[in-house]
Amino acid sequence: MKKDFLSIADLTREEIYDIFELTRDLKKKTKNRQEHHLLKGYTLAMIFAKPSARTRISFETGIYQLGGSALYLAPGDIGIGSREAVKDIAQVISRYNDLIMARLFAHQDIEELAEYASVPVINGLTDYNHPCQIMADAYTILEHFDRIENLKVTYIGDGNNVANSWINFASKIPLHLVICTPRNYEPDAETYKNARNAGLSQIEILSDPKLAVKDSDVLYTDVWASMGQEAEADKRKQIFRPYQLNSDLLGLAKSDAKVMHCLPAHRGDEITDEVIDGPQSIVFDEAENRMHVQKAIMVKLAQNR
Ligand code: CP
Ligand code: NVA
Repeated sequence: MKKDFLSIADLTREEIYDIFELTRDLKKKTKNRQEHHLLKGYTLAMIFAKPSARTRISFETGIYQLGGSALYLAPGDIGIGSREAVKDIAQVISRYNDLIMARLFAHQDIEELAEYASVPVINGLTDYNHPCQIMADAYTILEHFDRIENLKVTYIGDGNNVANSWINFASKIPLHLVICTPRNYEPDAETYKNARNAGLSQIEILSDPKLAVKDSDVLYTDVWASMGQEAEADKRKQIFRPYQLNSDLLGLAKSDAKVMHCLPAHRGDEITDEVIDGPQSIVFDEAENRMHVQKAIMVKLAQNR
């Protein structure tokens, strides 16, 4: 495994399944209140340039359960890249802490952080991707379907960081992945090209939601305006309206299809209350699994050193 976890594209298929196996073990121990202090005395510095609920809470609670502790560095505390150069912060934190988790705007900033940090860096979301989320999503699908390979996973909405990580996942694990977005809101072209070249999955980029959801095992959506795109929110609401995950659209997928959303959700926009609160929704299992998967990722990175 590489020193850092910045993208699912950096993992091998075997490493992905190793993380899932450890996740299962750690989740069981957590449920049974069995001590699993695999990172006793470790400290995790968490740098947030954007807001968060799940990422902060799941990493902080997760490292505590592993016998370590976390520091929450809020947007504005460090001023990464503004008050101080990314490479200086990387080297300073490496002198204090054993692991770094960062949620940043530019993906190149997390790459620079990882390059200059001597300790492992975990990507807690950038404008480009959200790898911890999709690892948790895939693990959740595995729990519900007993398999993930060759399922039809359809992502409807904005071709954003979450969509890009799904494409990276499909470059490592065979899936039928459909990304359905309005025109001009497609995911990253280079990421799509690389995943297509990997030749493992059937990956389609479509713009017709009714066509996209047909025969899907999993329907996935995310906000139409991501953090940092607030000024575009009103315009996007108009453009994305036909991409709302509502019961009409859900009715076109397989009858036992599951509904996922990384959260936070804008209820009534990209997803309706009846769908997110309905019997096919597994969004809170998905949110829970963020913690279990990230614990496994932290342990794997620490053991790697
Ligand atoms: N899904 C997710 O990353 O949630 P937060 O933005 O609340 O951390
Ligand atoms: N695409 C969303 C995901 C939030 C977890 C954002 O970047 O705001």
